[in-house]
Amino acid sequence: MKLFDVYPLYDVTPVRAKDVYVYDEKGTEYLDLYGGHAVISIGHGQERYLERLSHQMHQIGFYSNAVQNPLQQELANAIGGHSCCHDYQLFMCSSGAEANENALKLASFVTGKKRIIAFHNAFHGRTSAAVAATDNANINAPLNLQQEVTFLPFNDEKALETELKKGDVCAVIFEAIQGVGGLDEPSEDFVYAMDRLCKVYNSCLIADEVQAGFSRTGTFFAYQEYRIEPHIITMAKGMGNGFPVGGILVHPDIEAKYGMLGTTFGGNHLACSASLAVLDVLKEKELQKHAKELGEYFIQSAKKIPAVKQIKGRGLMLGLEFDFEVGPLRKELIYQHHIFTGGSSNKKLLRILPPLTVEKKHIDFFFTKLEEAINTLKA
Ligand SMILES: Cc1ncc(COP(=O)(O)O)c(C=O)c1O
Repeated sequence: MKLFDVYPLYDVTPVRAKDVYVYDEKGTEYLDLYGGHAVISIGHGQERYLERLSHQMHQIGFYSNAVQNPLQQELANAIGGHSCCHDYQLFMCSSGAEANENALKLASFVTGKKRIIAFHNAFHGRTSAAVAATDNANINAPLNLQQEVTFLPFNDEKALETELKKGDVCAVIFEAIQGVGGLDEPSEDFVYAMDRLCKVYNSCLIADEVQAGFSRTGTFFAYQEYRIEPHIITMAKGMGNGFPVGGILVHPDIEAKYGMLGTTFGGNHLACSASLAVLDVLKEKELQKHAKELGEYFIQSAKKIPAVKQIKGRGLMLGLEFDFEVGPLRKELIYQHHIFTGGSSNKKLLRILPPLTVEKKHIDFFFTKLEEAINTLKA
């Protein structure tokens, strides 16, 4: 049987990984500055994570959500403690798109409305409403275009109020730092305007933390750079360090009703254990503080490279913008220097999303190789 060929692939076959390194079948070591799409938070093959998952696997890996699973409450308490969102309510699912799909559906249930406001260059996933709220016509099928979505630029408060005033908007969904779109951020004033206007016009503010969440940006959630309380926060990626797990945090003012949301796999025993292990390790190794410090170190180092025209993002969610397209540079970094980096819909931007355990020596190594690669491509 053939694979359904929907992804272009780099010709590398990882078979093993440890901390910030990935190894191919010949034993070649690659420095992972991409974390497999920002998924690896506490490092590949982390001991405590492996022990906890393997212990849980031997106890019980899965049973349905029709019975008690105390691990879900344990995880809710742990996320509450780390994020300080103590009063929020946790619902678990299995991916980022599913988290956003559930968030949008919930917003529609509680407001009784159905139009969504999203932003230019947004990426929220590939399912029905999540993909419709993603600013990329190429990945929307005619089926998805049934959703009512209005895309606005960041920082246009007047346009936002004009749309919200129409009275049919269930949700405003935003990334505090855009991921796939290329690391752009709304201004502080606009973040506060979204928060205020959603309350005035009875719409839900959804913070998509699928990529930024769980300490990557130096705060637990990226929106926590500001003092706002979104109605719904969506999470996935770094939450499980590679185990497929996602979830939403729901503001205490939103009341749960049976049947609103549901899932077979969400919140299973293994998913909860993976995420509990991630939170334990983040705390024990103080990786949030480390992400902030290493991000600052990375930015200082990047400023010394003349070819870098702009540096975007914070913590270990970073982008380097050049005045040329970075496709060939990424290839050179992978094949000649054995370093994984990421691209984005901004073709001139190189994305850096390493495991949060990355050290200064890895960053120094990256910049040495980056300069070599740029010189080779110029020659
Ligand atoms: C901000 C954001 N939201 C949602 C998603 C979708 O997550 P998933 O691929 O787990 O469905 C992504 C994936 O890149 C993302 O970056």
